[in-house]
Amino acid sequence: MICSNLEIKDGVLFFGGRSTVELANKYGTPIYVMDEKTVRKNCRTYLDAMRKYFGENAKPFYASKACSFKKIYNIVGSEGMGVDVVSVGEIYTAKVAGYDMKNVCFHSNSKNDYDIEFAIDNGVGCFVVDNIEELEAIDNFAAQKGIKQKILFRITPGIDTHTYEAVNTGKVDSKFGFPIETGAAMEITKIALTKKNIDLAGFHCHVGSQLFDSDVFVRSAEIMLKFIADVKNTLGYEAKELDLGGGYGVRYTEKDPVLNIEENIKQVAEYVKKLCKELNINEPAISMEPGRSIVADAGITLYKVGNVKRIEGYKNYVAIDGGMGDNPRYALYESEYTVVAADKSDEECNFTCDLVGRFCESGDIIQPSIKLPESVKRGDIIAVLTTGAYNYSMASNYNRIPKLPVIMVNGEEDYVAVKGETLEDIIRNDM
Ligand SMILES: Cc1ncc(COP(=O)(O)O)c(C=O)c1O
Repeated sequence: MICSNLEIKDGVLFFGGRSTVELANKYGTPIYVMDEKTVRKNCRTYLDAMRKYFGENAKPFYASKACSFKKIYNIVGSEGMGVDVVSVGEIYTAKVAGYDMKNVCFHSNSKNDYDIEFAIDNGVGCFVVDNIEELEAIDNFAAQKGIKQKILFRITPGIDTHTYEAVNTGKVDSKFGFPIETGAAMEITKIALTKKNIDLAGFHCHVGSQLFDSDVFVRSAEIMLKFIADVKNTLGYEAKELDLGGGYGVRYTEKDPVLNIEENIKQVAEYVKKLCKELNINEPAISMEPGRSIVADAGITLYKVGNVKRIEGYKNYVAIDGGMGDNPRYALYESEYTVVAADKSDEECNFTCDLVGRFCESGDIIQPSIKLPESVKRGDIIAVLTTGAYNYSMASNYNRIPKLPVIMVNGEEDYVAVKGETLEDIIRNDM
């Protein structure tokens, strides 16, 4: 199967060693199921490879936008990962979970004064600064609080990764960061060096997501290191840190390649060492920000079939008890998924249909043109695989449908990591 934590036994799909049918019967549907062991294994892949090839100062930061709830911060924190956050909501969740705020790196291309003050008051270790207004505001708040705030600048290296436009963030005309090409990156660096309450530690870039091209990180490292050398020669300032962002791809379907992250990190590290020598700069401490590749294959979603509609001569639909409210990724990006009839996994799949949700939109499609067993009917359990990233975190209450619970499996155990919303939760803030 597409991920090593999936297997089929007697026609039933098992995930993280647990029967999906038993989980669906125990907790009801729809539910997100997450496998703690896989999250930990994915963290260790980065931690081990980065320490081994980049050295002890290297650090992976889990990009928690991929999936953010208290237990996830506990898990990645206990593995030794830093975390990257993009909102006060993520900061607050990490803090309440007991995560060490020194290891938090705060992104976002539009932080308002409340966000900045909240982050400083809560001891966020580092800001990734996106624009000059933000730099000024951080400097002012840091002065008021009598601190020097560590920052990195988000730089757009000008790389087109050929991924879907919405996740392609490294181009010169991106809404994120300061472009090198226009001189904006050099200019802002010069300004930052005059700020008394700013500690500029270095630079950051993130060029895209769901990337398999092994040289993308090499190319962005090259551009960023040349920029660091240019800054050294022009301003006499040498960056201590370089964050290369996230983006490694995961397997949603059999068509997606298997990526060897350790091997990729090794290649990037060898290149960084070589280029730093050539450019006569010290090797900066390297960080990376994986999100998807930490949690995607650690999650599946279980649904029940509500109805099967055969429109003779046209198409067939299988409608489930969830949809775009718990997984908007097909509607947003036409993302591909593997779908399995979890309780009929050994039956032949000859029935072509669209897997659609129960939300009041024609675009509420989880996956078009999939194959399920001919016998599929109301009550059958459907598993959508690789839903651990950007599903729970992108969920909405569209149509006032409560958000799903997250059930965590851990070898022999299963437990509720996030409770499902109730109808009371839906009206909680209504006056
Ligand atoms: C700045 C930044 N870092 C890290 C990530 C995580 O990327 P991925 O989930 O593809 O690893 C993102 C995703 O959009 C991002 O914008």
